[in-house]
Amino acid sequence: MSSTSKAARQDSPNKALDKAPDDLFLDTTLRPSSWNEYVGQKTIKDNLKVLLRAAAERKHPPEHILFYGPPGLGKTTLAHLIAKETASQLKATSGPAIEKVGDLASILTNLAPGDMLFIDEIHRLNKAIEEVLYPAMESGSLDIIIGKGPSARTIQLELPPFTLLAATTRVALLSSPLRSRFSGGTFRLEFYTEKEIQEIIHRSARLLGIDIDEKSSKKIAERSRFTPRTANFLLKRVRDLAQVEKMAVSVGIVDKALAMLGIDELGLTQTDRDLLRTLIDKFGGGPVGLNTLAASLSEEEATVEEVHEPYLLQLGLIERTPRGRKATDKAFDHLKIKR
Ligand SMILES: Nc1ncnc2c1ncn2[C@@H]1O[C@H](COP(=O)(O)OP(=O)(O)OP(=O)(O)O)[C@@H](O)[C@H]1O
Ligand SMILES: [Mg+2]
Repeated sequence: MSSTSKAARQDSPNKALDKAPDDLFLDTTLRPSSWNEYVGQKTIKDNLKVLLRAAAERKHPPEHILFYGPPGLGKTTLAHLIAKETASQLKATSGPAIEKVGDLASILTNLAPGDMLFIDEIHRLNKAIEEVLYPAMESGSLDIIIGKGPSARTIQLELPPFTLLAATTRVALLSSPLRSRFSGGTFRLEFYTEKEIQEIIHRSARLLGIDIDEKSSKKIAERSRFTPRTANFLLKRVRDLAQVEKMAVSVGIVDKALAMLGIDELGLTQTDRDLLRTLIDKFGGGPVGLNTLAASLSEEEATVEEVHEPYLLQLGLIERTPRGRKATDKAFDHLKIKR
């Protein structure tokens, strides 16, 4: 890998598996705090509003809800909005943070009635812990096994009524018993339209005190991978460059900032292009298995699958076949390689 691609990778807005502190800061400062500010995802919002209203009328916590989809599309934001809407306390944790059955038991027994528990990256919960979650989700009870061998016995604790909100970028890794217990619904977040992303950029610009015209925001939107987090990241980089160059934000500044980040006209990063090039140069366009592809790129399989592939699939640059990943004609054209 060249040194430029390494730099681009370190600064990448798409390293969702390992968010930089800057991304986390941006996520919280720019996070919409009402349904009106939450742009797009209309079907999900409509369904959630009915679900929450019906639960409120029955004076019962809403049923458990699962959100899935690529990083940066607004899953965590939705969990926060739901808690706000229902005036509930949100207790947030994540799959990897819950290491032992006891960790989960302690979180659950410390919930107050009506609390919402948010488990991010729920696909990383281990199986033994998942099994403790089943009765908690289904009947609001916690089964604890005391002792070992023939003298072991189970005691059952009643939990306060609560709602589990969960998010994952890899829904396929969830076991079907776990998936089936999200009785409130399982919602897949979709990529945004360019217009929606442009609206998000203008809102963020207002919040960050950045003056931006329509042409510049449109250009950023086009390169944002249809993803709000990426749009916010690019907006900030553009602001930085304008500041350093002592100029106003303009299409020229946007172009320059994008070029410096190695983001091309389709919004692909250096790593995306490396992936396509590897697929084409090393494997004749494929099909090639995910593990082989990830290994040739020195990337984690999970990063390839969660961060890079969804957008490449969305653009029709690659295809998933039963025998692996294939580069499409569009990918050959984009990299100007003859078949
Ligand atoms: N619908 C939206 N409208 C406006 N801004 C949004 C929207 N969705 C997301 N954002 C912005 O993008 C940022 C990232 O969103 P969020 O953290 O909810 O994504 P996520 O799906 O949880 O990502 P990950 O899978 O990496 O955890 C938010 O802080 C917010 O600023
Ligand atoms: Mg999140």
